[in-house]
Parts: sequence; structure tokens; C-alpha cells
Amino acid sequence: MPPGPLQWPILGSLPSLALFGSKDPLAYLKTLGDKYGGIFSVKLGDHFAIFISDYNIMKEALMKQGSCFSHRPSTALDRAIGYDEPGVVLANGRVWQVFRRFAMQSMRDFGVGKKSIERKIQIEASSLIQQLEKMDGKAHNPSPDTQVAVTNIICAIIFGERYEYGDAEFSQILDSMKDVAQSVEWFDLRNMFDIVDRLPYGKNVSANHKILGVIKRQIVEHRQTLDETEDRDILDLCLRRQAGSEEDAALFNAVVAFIGDLFIAGGETTATTLGWAYLYMAEHPDIQEKCFQEIYKVLGDRPPIMADRAKLPFVEATISEVQRIRTIAPLSVMHSTAQDATLRGYTIPKGTWVFPMLYAVSADEKQWKQPADFNPERFLDASGDYVKRESLVPFGVGPRMCAGEMLAKMELFIFFTVMLQNFRFSRSSSDQKIDLDPILGVTWSPKPQNIQLTRR
Ligand code: HEM
Repeated sequence: MPPGPLQWPILGSLPSLALFGSKDPLAYLKTLGDKYGGIFSVKLGDHFAIFISDYNIMKEALMKQGSCFSHRPSTALDRAIGYDEPGVVLANGRVWQVFRRFAMQSMRDFGVGKKSIERKIQIEASSLIQQLEKMDGKAHNPSPDTQVAVTNIICAIIFGERYEYGDAEFSQILDSMKDVAQSVEWFDLRNMFDIVDRLPYGKNVSANHKILGVIKRQIVEHRQTLDETEDRDILDLCLRRQAGSEEDAALFNAVVAFIGDLFIAGGETTATTLGWAYLYMAEHPDIQEKCFQEIYKVLGDRPPIMADRAKLPFVEATISEVQRIRTIAPLSVMHSTAQDATLRGYTIPKGTWVFPMLYAVSADEKQWKQPADFNPERFLDASGDYVKRESLVPFGVGPRMCAGEMLAKMELFIFFTVMLQNFRFSRSSSDQKIDLDPILGVTWSPKPQNIQLTRR
């Protein structure tokens, strides 16, 4: 195994992590990555784990040896979260292959990458503008309304339904999604020690149960109204597969988990990225103005379409910079090794937990000049054209990479552009300090705070 901090009997590396990393675990883990050359091992209770902070080593593991390093471990928390069987995010082997292919194909069938979903995103973006206009210039936190708008897109794709702002059931689901995202799965003792894995679980698990309840109700309603001649949404497609071949019937028993995965992965992440974008625009009025001028010059007042992205390089660079500086899934989703492996000369035994430190790659001085600065120019060449940078990895690396990247990119571009076209973001008072320190959970989310939205 690679070197790492001192390991004690029974407790493993927990004393070092508690002593040096309790205040800011991710900052401490990054210093370990720098110290040990981009890869180090720790023992988390009963489990061996490696952390990878160097982009090239990450590629060697997750891409070159992708089938070995892209397994998902079964953790106590995952088992308790309420799925009878894993859907796509936590599945392995044949189940994962089938669901991943099905997820990507069915998202395409329901418009992802095409005009039809572009139109849906535009409509949601314009409802969001109307909703925010109601604040009439009062300081406000635009993130909860943004979460409604973004989650409505994935709802339309999977359930064929959208919810109104203020809908009580939907608000409860969105709160539950936040609770799930803000639970810190990796450092939960129940995951680390098999002996305590029966202890009662906290709010993330009960929150997930609420989401699963809504999905189960949708399944019952869809079954009752299934139309032989038309598939209305992804849930209809799942139910049809469930009634198909013997293999499909068995696999698609996991429909609750599969739909739950798309719902949680598809709503929270994109909305949180937009939340960060608003705060960075309020903090950097010069960059915001440059984005606005570019949008105004190319689009005037008309809503953006995806084909405009190539004509708005500064806007695209700004979105990329937000995704870099506040990598939404800082430790990705946990991987593990499917069999014994060798990486950089180290033997990594089967079943070792693997943490891709995406946030550390985003903050690596070898990859980025002055990484702590918010600077969209790093994604532009001398002629002002957008330059794709390989080490921008908010969606992960290798075969497990985000299955919803295309949808997320469409949503980020259209929502961000429409918001800047319609509002100026600023501090709510001259002495307000925008708080850019993240809340650490499965995702990195901003602290709730009001900012000023002035109609353009
Ligand atoms: C800005 C938005 C998003 C970001 C930054 C993001 C990021 C990620 C990351 C880092 C992973 C884990 C990759 C790994 O395990 O190595 C992931 C997995 C996943 N994401 Fe996203 N995601 C976003 C939006 C979405 C959307 C809109 C969907 C659509 C439903 C989605 C669906 C999924 C699924 C299904 C997986 C599991 C893939 C698998 O295990 O094979 N994500 N995402």
C-alpha cells in the first residue's frame, strides 16, 4: 500500500485525522496528498483506503485501469439508506452496466442533447425569472427557487411532471435532497467499523426515505395509467422493461433505487453549482459585467440556445471556473478496487476504498496558476476562444464519470445565461461579506445567504 499517516491498532488513521483534520478535513487531506506525492493510504476503522490527489495518478487508476478501480464498495450507510437493491450509482457488474446504458439512452430518448429539452430548460428558466421578480429588488437567497427550477427538469424527464413554486410536497423533497447531500458519508463511524453498523442512522437516511416514498407513489400512479401506445417518461420505460424478458424483470426490480439515483444526482448538483455561480458573480462585479456584455452583444434579449455556447466563450469560461473553484463533489463518489491491483508500484488489495480527490486536482498548482484566484481567463486563449482543460474534472474521471454530464452542461449554460441576462447580482449592502466557505457533505454547498438581485 502507498505510505500515509501513522496507523494505530483498531483505530487505524483516525487519531491523526481527528487531531489534524477535525477543523477542515479536506484541507488536511490535501496536505497529505502534497506530502506523499499525490497518493496516500489511510486506515478508516476496519477499512483500508487510498486517496488520490494527483491528476495523472487518477487517470492511471480510473481510466487506464478503469474496470478495476471503478467498483463501488457496499458501505453500512448505503445499505441503510433504504434501497432494497442498488440502482446505478451504487451498483456493480451487470446491473450497473445495464442501468448506466439505460440511463444514458433514456435521457437521450427524452430529449437530452436535443431541442426538446433545451425548450423545457428555457421555460423553467423563464419561470424562475418570474418567481425571482416577485422579490421586487429585496435582498434574497435565489438558491432555493433555483433548486425548484432545476429539479423540475429532471422531474419532467423521469415522472413527466413539474411542480409549482411553493408546492408543499416538493419543498419537503427538496429539503430532503439537501439533507442527503449535506450528510458526510465518508467519515461516518458506522461505515468504518462493522461492529457499530447497526446503530440508528441520522437525518440523511430518513430524508432519503421521504424521497423514496414519493417515487413509490409515482410508480403506483404510472402503473395504473400506463399507455401501451406511448411512453411518457423514463419511469414508463422502466415499467415496460420490468414487464419484459426474465432478465429485465429481475433487473428492473431496482426501479425505485434507479429513479432515486437520477432524481438526487440530477437535481442537487446542478442547482448547487448555480448557487455558487451567483455568489461568485456578486463577489466579482467586473467578471459579471464582462459576461453580461458578451451575452447582450450576441443575444440581445432573446433566450439562449445551446448553439450559442460557442459564441459566448467568456460565459463558458466563467461556468468552468465556478466548477473548478467549487468542485461540487469534492471526493467524487467513493470507488473501490474490484481485484488486487498495482498502481505506481504499490500493491492495492481487492476491496480497498478509493477516494478520487477532485477538489485537490482543481486546486493543484501543477495544473493551475494561482488556483485560489477566481479567474475565468485561464480557460481562454490569446484570441479569447474557450480552451478545454483536461484537468477540469467536476464530473469525475473514467467509466464511472457522471452519467448526466450532458444534461448538466445544458442546464448550467441556459440557466446561468438567462439569469445574467435578467438580473445584476451584488452584495445586499456595501459592508456585506459574501461567504464563499463551503459546507462539507457529499457535495460542497454554499452557506445560505441573501444577495441583491436587480432587474436589468
Ligand atoms: C453540475 C452538475 C453535476 C456534477 C458536478 C456531477 C458530478 C458527478 C460526479 C463527480 C459523479 C461521480 C463520478 C465517479 O464516481 O467517479 C457523478 C455520478 C453520477 N451522476 Fe452526476 N453530476 C452532475 C449532474 C448530474 C445530472 C444532471 C445527472 C442526471 C441525472 C447526473 C447523474 C449521475 C449519475 C447517474 C451518476 C452515477 C454514475 C455511475 O455510477 O456510473 N449527474 N456525477
